[in-house]
Amino acid sequence: MKLGIIGAMPQEIDRIAEELETESIVEAGGRSYHMGRFAGADCVLVFSHWGKVAASITATTLIERFGVDYIIFTGVAGAVSQHLNVGDVVIADRLIQHDFDVSAAGILSKYEIPFLGISYFSVDATLIELAKQAAEEFLSNKDHPAAPSFLKRGSVYVGTIASGDQFIAHPDKIEELRTAIPDLLCVEMEGAAVAQVCHEYGIPYLVIRTISDKADHSAPMDFLTFIRNVARHYSYGILQRLIPKLI
Ligand code: ADE
Repeated sequence: MKLGIIGAMPQEIDRIAEELETESIVEAGGRSYHMGRFAGADCVLVFSHWGKVAASITATTLIERFGVDYIIFTGVAGAVSQHLNVGDVVIADRLIQHDFDVSAAGILSKYEIPFLGISYFSVDATLIELAKQAAEEFLSNKDHPAAPSFLKRGSVYVGTIASGDQFIAHPDKIEELRTAIPDLLCVEMEGAAVAQVCHEYGIPYLVIRTISDKADHSAPMDFLTFIRNVARHYSYGILQRLIPKLI
């Protein structure tokens, strides 16, 4: 089994890269694919860059060139649900592209992806359960170095994640998204694109996100602080516990 692991920022995966027993690094399309062993599995680790196109290129390359059997996306997200706090973990059970809308053409509904006949990409229930267990184990570990004083111990949520090519930092935009997608938990910029690529290739996938901000006016500062100081420990701590459950 070979696992593809993607993060959109170097800081989201650099702790995993430190622990990867690297066998080779392959440069392709402006990205560095790190191949090696991590948590008992053959892995290909890569930083995708931000956004849906960048994530799609990366996921497609992982599948076509490196022959991965699963893809795990790990990173941060902005909260949309009022129940979520910074430091909570969200595991997607379905993903939607919130900026995809060809409804004006009169054939498809808003969010519907042409030729696929769906608006949401669903995640395998067994994979979700394993990811949930791994995230709960990580968060309940009192000694983990990702628990700075400003974070209360986080909780794990399973639900809808929306992706779009926008960093959301305005309450009006959050309200618009809440109304359009009522069960939405959080927003990010890559997950639903990776989900579409995996869906079209028939590859199982997981999207695991830690809440870094509340997608409001303070989002840019909160996001940067979280990315600099915390995100890497969550990605590493969760995947280190999840991968042995998958193999
Ligand atoms: N990733 C983390 N925070 C985000 C936000 N507020 N908007 C989009 N993507 C994000």
